[in-house]
Amino acid sequence: MVFALLTTLVGFACAVHLPNVVRPGTYFAIKSSAKAPQGWVKYSTPSPHQVITLRIALQQPNFHKLEEELLEISNPANPRWTEHLTKEQVEKLAAPHPTSLLLVDEYLASNGVDMSSVQRSPAKDWLIIDVTVAQAERLLNTEYAVFKHVQSGSEIVRAPSYSLPLYLHDHVDIVQPTDYFGSVHAMVSGVRVEKHTSRISDAVLASPNISLSQIKDLYGVTGYFPPMIPTSKYALTGYLEQYANLADLKQFYALYLPPAVNRTLKVELINGAINSQNASEAGVEANIDVQLGGGISYPIQNIFYSTYGRGQNTNPNISYHDNGNEPYDVFLLTLLKKKNHELPQTISTSYGEHETEVPFSYARRVCSLYAQLGSRGISVLHSSGDGGSDGCTNPNVFVPIFPASCPYVTAVGGTFRIPEIAAPFSGGGFSNYFQRPSYQSLAVLSYLRKLGKTYHGFFNASGRGFPDVSAQSAHVEIVWIRRVVAASGTSVSSPIFGAIIALLNNALMADGRRPLGFLNPWLYSLEDGILNDITAGSNPGCGSNGFNATVGWDPVTGLGTPYLCRLLEALGLEGNRLSA
Ligand SMILES: *[C@@H]1O[C@H](CO)[C@@H](O)[C@H](O)[C@H]1NC(C)=O
Ligand SMILES: *[C@@H]1O[C@H](CO)[C@@H](O)[C@H](O)[C@H]1NC(C)=O
Ligand SMILES: *[C@@H]1O[C@H](CO)[C@@H](O)[C@H](O)[C@H]1NC(C)=O
Ligand SMILES: *[C@@H]1O[C@H](CO)[C@@H](O)[C@H](O)[C@H]1NC(C)=O
Ligand SMILES: *[C@@H]1O[C@H](CO)[C@@H](O)[C@H](O)[C@H]1NC(C)=O
Ligand SMILES: *[C@@H]1O[C@H](CO)[C@@H](O)[C@H](O)[C@H]1NC(C)=O
Repeated sequence: MVFALLTTLVGFACAVHLPNVVRPGTYFAIKSSAKAPQGWVKYSTPSPHQVITLRIALQQPNFHKLEEELLEISNPANPRWTEHLTKEQVEKLAAPHPTSLLLVDEYLASNGVDMSSVQRSPAKDWLIIDVTVAQAERLLNTEYAVFKHVQSGSEIVRAPSYSLPLYLHDHVDIVQPTDYFGSVHAMVSGVRVEKHTSRISDAVLASPNISLSQIKDLYGVTGYFPPMIPTSKYALTGYLEQYANLADLKQFYALYLPPAVNRTLKVELINGAINSQNASEAGVEANIDVQLGGGISYPIQNIFYSTYGRGQNTNPNISYHDNGNEPYDVFLLTLLKKKNHELPQTISTSYGEHETEVPFSYARRVCSLYAQLGSRGISVLHSSGDGGSDGCTNPNVFVPIFPASCPYVTAVGGTFRIPEIAAPFSGGGFSNYFQRPSYQSLAVLSYLRKLGKTYHGFFNASGRGFPDVSAQSAHVEIVWIRRVVAASGTSVSSPIFGAIIALLNNALMADGRRPLGFLNPWLYSLEDGILNDITAGSNPGCGSNGFNATVGWDPVTGLGTPYLCRLLEALGLEGNRLSA
């Protein structure tokens, strides 16, 4: 069988012209020489027969063209604004060189991989194969180990340092699971149940609870009756075995939005996720997302995507098959497989981790998947994190949050109180991985001028600044395990801002227009006074007072918080459905 495959490959090779490389006697060169991040220790040796799902991402020679297209179609000053690319166009631009496909296939087949079991992403830029640990070790000239997370006890199989034959280095971008450990967490910084609140500063502690209807008043949503567009969808994302509890959701609607009480939530399970409705397993994060995102976007159809993936296995010898701890690429590739009519127009995600814990090559690759979604006309929002300007490393430097630091997502920070000020935990700062994108140059440079030499050396002034925008994030009432609790964190603000975007996309579609797609160039082009500029408060961290919220963009609250009717008007929609 392997032989037959090789024969086919040779047939292809004539057409594509394999470069003249010397493959026999394979010379391996190091592809990654990472170490386990802090908190993870080598714990045991996995069984050589254990199956792991290897994901190989090939180089994308035309990716810069996709980025250029994306910046054109998301720029409101460009005549092509919102002319989103088709699935096929995106796949063409994301595709690897045919030679890369051939060489990698040949390499796998000649190492005994059953090529009939290889799965490929639609753009063929990712290969997904189930191999044993022994096979993976041979392919990557490495040794896998079981690593244990000291604090949580999670276990995962990783090989932080690995090699590939030198001739494949120009063809393979990354291989996982290897050097990415995944310290993904939900951006919930506190849940107030009656009088008890955890991990939250005194100023926030003293602030009153805020309810769905107060948020709707604040952001100009009260009294807005969106037209019903059956194709309009808003999705919330769950990782880490977070289950959106449907009985809690019903109770939330009964209390805060009675007309929605019989509304359904479409739940889609990805990569072996389950949907436990056991009340005591309800996830506070998932409940925040579906209740606040749902409450504000009503009556737009909501989808809850639940992606499995977290190392939790206590027996190192049982299968790690679905135990990836790497939810982003698995989730994003699942979305990119879908046809346009199956995709939501807006997606909010409230998870992230320190950029320092994500290998650069993996972060860049995940960010490129977000660019592909954006090119297809999907607006993607991410919480900016709950550590303020925090995450100190030695020497004192602020640590940015990923994926918020990816320039192709819209990062949402947090505010609190009415009138609003910056929430002290609102994640914000500058990426060390991604350059400042042109769409935010003016806004960020204007902030940097005000900052002068303050925090010189604490952050990377040439990096992508985040968040882009913000919304209420402290003591917002939701239902969790059948009781009303008040939740805090940028986990609260992202589904709220996302819901406003879902309403805008819905209104555009009702008007026969295309949805906004990748938001940032449009957001940064809005005239002053359309968003609510937040000019007070700061995000202390790393033993400093953090950044200040200022007039215009700042790395605490971004450009500000939303106001629906002004945003509708900015899109030429006149806020005309706002009525008594
Ligand atoms: C796991 O496998 C290793 C080596 O294959 C073996 O030494 C160890 O006893 C096994 N542990 C369990 C809990 O089965
Ligand atoms: C709302 O705030 C009040 C006063 O701070 C507190 O007593 C009450 O328990 C809070 N409700 C919730 C659900 O946290
Ligand atoms: C919800 O469904 C119940 C049972 O079918 C019905 O009695 C009730 O009127 C419905 N409520 C709304 C707001 O649609
Ligand atoms: C619900 O989940 C809890 C916690 O995981 C567990 O102890 C309990 O047995 C579960 N109940 C049912 C009915 O499955
Ligand atoms: C600062 O950011 C740029 C990209 O924006 C990057 O090339 C550079 O390595 C970063 N510097 C540090 C010290 O991380
Ligand atoms: C923030 O504002 C305070 C009060 O105006 C000022 O003392 C401080 O220097 C500012 N910090 C930064 C980083 O701009």
